[in-house]
Amino acid sequence: MNHACLLTALGVYTPEHRLTNAELCTMVDTSDEWITSRTGICSRRRLAPEESTATMGLAAAKRALQSSGIQPQDLSHIIVATCTPDKLCPSTACIIAGSLGAPSCMAFDINAACSGYLYGVSLCRSILAGQPDATILFIAAEAMTRRMNWNDRSTCVLFGDGATASIFSATAEQPLAQVRDVLCDADCSLHSLITIGGGAEKELPAGQSIEDDFFLQMQGREVFKHAVRRMAEACKTLLERNGLTIHDIDLLVPHQANMRIIDAVGSRLGIASSKVFANVEQYGNTSAASVPLALAEALQTQVLSHGKRVLCVSFGAGLTWSALLLDF
Ligand SMILES: CC(C)(COP(=O)(O)OP(=O)(O)OC[C@H]1O[C@@H](n2cnc3c(N)ncnc32)[C@H](O)[C@@H]1OP(=O)(O)O)[C@@H](O)C(=O)NCCC(=O)NCCS
Repeated sequence: MNHACLLTALGVYTPEHRLTNAELCTMVDTSDEWITSRTGICSRRRLAPEESTATMGLAAAKRALQSSGIQPQDLSHIIVATCTPDKLCPSTACIIAGSLGAPSCMAFDINAACSGYLYGVSLCRSILAGQPDATILFIAAEAMTRRMNWNDRSTCVLFGDGATASIFSATAEQPLAQVRDVLCDADCSLHSLITIGGGAEKELPAGQSIEDDFFLQMQGREVFKHAVRRMAEACKTLLERNGLTIHDIDLLVPHQANMRIIDAVGSRLGIASSKVFANVEQYGNTSAASVPLALAEALQTQVLSHGKRVLCVSFGAGLTWSALLLDF
């Protein structure tokens, strides 16, 4: 039997500090004109020194639980999508589960970089197919500014911080949306195009200072080309296998990396720009959190409401990409 995968709640947390292009210009050799014309980004959120991926994820989780009426002890799984975990071990999911008062559920992290939310939705769908009684808290949270090299102006202007928490289950009285289909893909021969080091790849004797590869490094031009091509292709494949065309879509919610990428994907798909949701201007690229942050804002501003069919698409390091059909 095919069980439904229902999105029943969506909570959001974004840090207070709005790091504007003007403030960035005091830190890096750049200009508001360069950043806005190349990326469409005007500001991004930066977490406070006492915050982390786990604290942001926890705040988003509390909001999602509160809006759904679900108690922490009712959760069967806590999954966190992040490429900026608090620690290599334990998982950010375990840290959040402990703080939330859900110490005995299955808790682990996934990392598909900016595709983390859509990959995670695919995972939640598989879990619910095998365990229809599961109640999954799925957090997408990133502290990207912690891994920016503030001497590398080609990357540090692009990213921001934030967290979302989604609750998925197979049954719900008033779900926000139903997952209709999701497609996940990758070309891992291109894994070196976007990297964040700091893992166990090499010896790091105690006391030795970190090197540039600790921070995000990206071959921006190459990534741009792949992003546009793969995101458009993934959308077309997903629509086709569901017997739909782009005209059946009420709203396209793409990964919020760069306005030029978003525009290029929209025009390859032939969708009106009025049907393409973007908030990259205010948040920059929040990696795994980007699509659900955009979905939450679209819901809050009533751009998105009951009865709408939504196509989400993401792209990130790996290289990974994914497309998702949601019926609201
Ligand atoms: C990053 C990106 C905006 C750079 O734009 P670009 O047109 O490719 O720019 P380049 O990197 O070729 O650099 C062009 C010039 O701008 C300069 N430059 C780069 N960053 C700058 C900044 N923040 N401010 C001012 N100048 C900058 C470069 O030094 C270079 O100068 P030069 O020609 O004198 O050497 C673009 O490649 C991009 O959007 N890539 C996709 C990145 C992305 O979104 N990745 C995430 C996917 S999940």
